[in-house]
Amino acid sequence: MSQAQARVELARLADLLNLANIAYHGKDSPKIPDSEFDRLKRRNAKIEAMYPELKRADSPSDSVGSAPSDGFGKITHSVPMLSLGNAFDDADVQDFVERVSKYLGLSAAELTFLAEPKIDGLSLSLRYENGQLSHAATRGDGTTGENVTENARTIADIPKSLEDAPDVLEVRGEVYMGHADFDALNLRQSASGHKLFANPRNAAAGSLRQLDARVTRARPLRFFAYAWGALSASLGETQMSSILRLEKLGFAINPLTKECDDFKSMVEHYRQIEAKRSKLEYDIDGVVYKVNRLDFQARLGFRATTPRWAVAHKFPAELAWTRLQSIDIQVGRTGALSPVARLQPITVGGVVVSNATLHNEDYIQGRDNRGISIREGKDIRIDDWVQVYRAGDVIPKVADVDLSKRSVNSVAYVFPNLCPECGSFAVREDGDAVHRCTGGMICPAQAVEKLKHFVSRKAFDIEGLGARQIEMFHGDPDLPIQQPADIFSLNERDSGNLTKLKNRRGWGAQSAENLFAAIEERRTIPLERLIFALGIRHVGEVGARDLALHFLSWENLTQATDSARAAALAHRAADKAEETERRAARVENRRAQLSNCRAAAIAACVVEASSSQAWTDLIAIDGIGSTLGLSLSDAMANPIERAAINHLRSYLTILAPDPPAKQSPVTGKTVVFSGTLQKMTRAEAKARAEALGAKVSGSVSGKTNILVIGAGAGSKAKKAADLGVKTLNEDSWIALIEEL
Ligand code: IVH
Repeated sequence: MSQAQARVELARLADLLNLANIAYHGKDSPKIPDSEFDRLKRRNAKIEAMYPELKRADSPSDSVGSAPSDGFGKITHSVPMLSLGNAFDDADVQDFVERVSKYLGLSAAELTFLAEPKIDGLSLSLRYENGQLSHAATRGDGTTGENVTENARTIADIPKSLEDAPDVLEVRGEVYMGHADFDALNLRQSASGHKLFANPRNAAAGSLRQLDARVTRARPLRFFAYAWGALSASLGETQMSSILRLEKLGFAINPLTKECDDFKSMVEHYRQIEAKRSKLEYDIDGVVYKVNRLDFQARLGFRATTPRWAVAHKFPAELAWTRLQSIDIQVGRTGALSPVARLQPITVGGVVVSNATLHNEDYIQGRDNRGISIREGKDIRIDDWVQVYRAGDVIPKVADVDLSKRSVNSVAYVFPNLCPECGSFAVREDGDAVHRCTGGMICPAQAVEKLKHFVSRKAFDIEGLGARQIEMFHGDPDLPIQQPADIFSLNERDSGNLTKLKNRRGWGAQSAENLFAAIEERRTIPLERLIFALGIRHVGEVGARDLALHFLSWENLTQATDSARAAALAHRAADKAEETERRAARVENRRAQLSNCRAAAIAACVVEASSSQAWTDLIAIDGIGSTLGLSLSDAMANPIERAAINHLRSYLTILAPDPPAKQSPVTGKTVVFSGTLQKMTRAEAKARAEALGAKVSGSVSGKTNILVIGAGAGSKAKKAADLGVKTLNEDSWIALIEEL
């Protein structure tokens, strides 16, 4: 969408949404259905994200009165509300400190951190405009949350107005319920015959998400501030000074927040907090460490969903014993067979657990993926007493097995070698821990999971067509959806009269109409979403984006994978031959016999693989290694998959990736870094180059535009000279990008 088109579209959306808002709040009948309202609002937010300079003064994103869906209006966060990466032990914390200092190119002694309790509540974002609380939103999916402004106003810890605050200030923190208040609430619940809350967190969430603010008022909620979103003026230069500023403005900040000089004092503070945990009046589930200096935080930035500058050091998980009733096998999108333990339900850390993951055959047998014994090598059998644990939000796992309670008739679990869904062989390849169904698209479980992934939020994100609807349509006799293209022919196959859909329970004419409109809207799709949506093993969101940015069109991508196919197979053959060689080497008497012919085979394959420009180019794309390359190649060379994709493409208009926000002298250029940089680390150099629209590659080829040479650069510099590639030293590289 061009800038001019975006401006017109934003004006249209503002009109539509503002009118709908008035109709809704004037208690008129809403002019448009809620789902449509939400869709338009999301579209508006997306266009604003693309062209922030075009955001209107009357932007619907800033209006709090959106139509309620599930009872609450939605608010799109101006700065996403992210989650935190986890550390489970001291070594993980040390890794975090090292990662941060390495990224910044500083010694750990140059850094300080803040350590503070991780409150076990729910996060809330409070927006103040000109000192007045204008709205409050839950985290939701991180991008869009629920509008709980009226309820937040009832919380005593939350100031309704501020003095001397920046014009725009978004304060973020945790809403929680204290233990005494929780106990009293449950007493009242039980006296009035209402359901009890399992833990203070659930009670806080349930109370904040009350449609009637009077109920929230009667539930004593508390709030700790620990972060911020949008700001019109900075609060301080460090995390600590900013938090203290928030305290001055009237927010409660956690008294156990401490500045730490090094790793040792961080974990020391963790131990102190852990020792105080049972005496605290509120639940905490770990300690959060944050890089103190905000300029460092800005340089460190974010990964997909977590900041690089913070980490949550979790307290050890809670444990409970229960009976394993059965083991079910689930088949995933890539054919992986996942064993799931069905447990006699048991409460672990306030949550009822009835399933636990068993990962794979080795895990059941008591080995990890390197063959090292876990749970002291005790295997897991049906009817065993098992100890389960939850760590944070992760799926429960089995920590231990009580052999003294095992029945004498018990037999070891035999992992199936047939897919329970389609009966195809389930094969466990050398070096792989996972059994995979070989049925491909003929396996209904794989097909359904692939379709669910196809319509998921980060893929085609079709409103009204989620996992549940996919299950329903997949086996539908009249209107089946068996491959992605079937989604786009749904309307036409329904012969446009909605009758078949209408007759189906829950599908009124309006929802069918909405579904067709939502599908129609997704016929135009960005290339990276399409690639991600295909659900190719190893091709995640980031890989899909890397591929899209590199190839720019579907045609370029397939041309490259087709040309690279022979080399990809040779690469796999070389890998396999090497693996066989390694195994043979372990069996001494077969060594001599095998090694000669293997070595020859490896050499031949390696030559074949490396002589293909297409293959070497593919795996040289930064972020795309041979594992992803091979998996992509397999998918593209699979005739059934390829036909399905081509069929799908006939319905689609595929958009080239958005040009990077800023045009720069390196936009679209392929840059390679070599040697040691002095002023920034490699990781930082790469992140900055990419932010300016450059592609960063690991090796020099004819396609390289710039080679940045650091200290001790070796063969790459020579190759660049041979190929006539432009080279820059570190200073001239910085001069080039810093002009921007
Ligand atoms: S900082 C960019 N500090 O933990 C990340 N989060 O697992 C900003 N939480 O969604 C979050 N106590 O709800 C931060 N002292 C604390 C916290 C904290 C609890 C929650 C928060 C966040 C979740 C991430």
